[in-house]
Amino acid sequence: MQGTAIARPNIALIKYWGKRDVALNLPAVGSISITLRELHTRMQVVFDRMLETDALTVNDVPDEKMLPRLSACLDLVAGVDRPGARITSQCNFPIAAGLASSASSFAALTVAAAHAAGKSLTTAELAGLAGRASGSAARSLLGGFVELVNTDDGISVDTLCDAADWPLTVVVAVTETGPKPVSSTEAMEISRKTSPFYSTWVEQQPADLDAARAAIEDRDFQALAHAAEHNCLKMHSIMWASRPPTVYWNAATIRCLETIRSLQARDLGVFFTIDAGPQVKAVCVPGDAAEVEAALRATPGVEGTMVSALGPGAGLEPDA
Ligand code: DP6
Repeated sequence: MQGTAIARPNIALIKYWGKRDVALNLPAVGSISITLRELHTRMQVVFDRMLETDALTVNDVPDEKMLPRLSACLDLVAGVDRPGARITSQCNFPIAAGLASSASSFAALTVAAAHAAGKSLTTAELAGLAGRASGSAARSLLGGFVELVNTDDGISVDTLCDAADWPLTVVVAVTETGPKPVSSTEAMEISRKTSPFYSTWVEQQPADLDAARAAIEDRDFQALAHAAEHNCLKMHSIMWASRPPTVYWNAATIRCLETIRSLQARDLGVFFTIDAGPQVKAVCVPGDAAEVEAALRATPGVEGTMVSALGPGAGLEPDA
């Protein structure tokens, strides 16, 4: 009655922003992401009939706040009549700072819980369950370049290219480590309901997905850079134009963009993307990563950097 799994965060190059069904947490648009290697969440789930309620520790500290969302995910995976669960989460990067800790957490939780419940599920079934908890979590089930596709009744995930087939490096410039003021779940609903640009975003997403898919197929870094930067700025424009506006960026976020523009002007292989937080993720060709990292680390307001290659999807670990 126990299972342990590891999953890694993913960074969307073509973003998921907006839901077509809030109750089922189904995304309004498809998305494409890269899974990281060096950052990870390890989740252990132990079902125990003696436990009256679920209990969660995150990095050895009891966490009541996150527990309801994790319990709801366990109900979906193992059924509402399941035993109580002891959930132990270990995460080696800052939580809730726009680094997709929910993606790696819910992907790992889904895989660990299915094992603990004695269920052998397909990737499509796991994606449906992880996606109910957090849309981006479904993508962390797979490694390398991953596309999340909207199907008639749900979602599916596919690998577009393995990590080893197009090695890229991601440098994360951390500009703030505190939790974000508005969750992505909340902000995307505000965007959907109030942003004048939201419907255009949904309409244009298939073209952005096509452009990124073709760039990945051709291993065309410049084409991927154009598609990803455009899609990122478009997503943030929707938020800026919503009421109330959602602005995740700080002054250092903008300085990092200027740093990346100056590196691009010197022909370094790098582009940026930014999710629901103030961190800037620089995607680089591996040979340029050291210079990109040094330039971002020296950018005023940057508190630290993390460097990661692309990595594998979620997987079971031997029980501790
Ligand atoms: C900006 O997956 O966190 O990172 O489904 O409501 O849990 P919920 O949202 P979540 O949103 C991710 C938003 C994003 C873009 C992306 O990862 O595609």
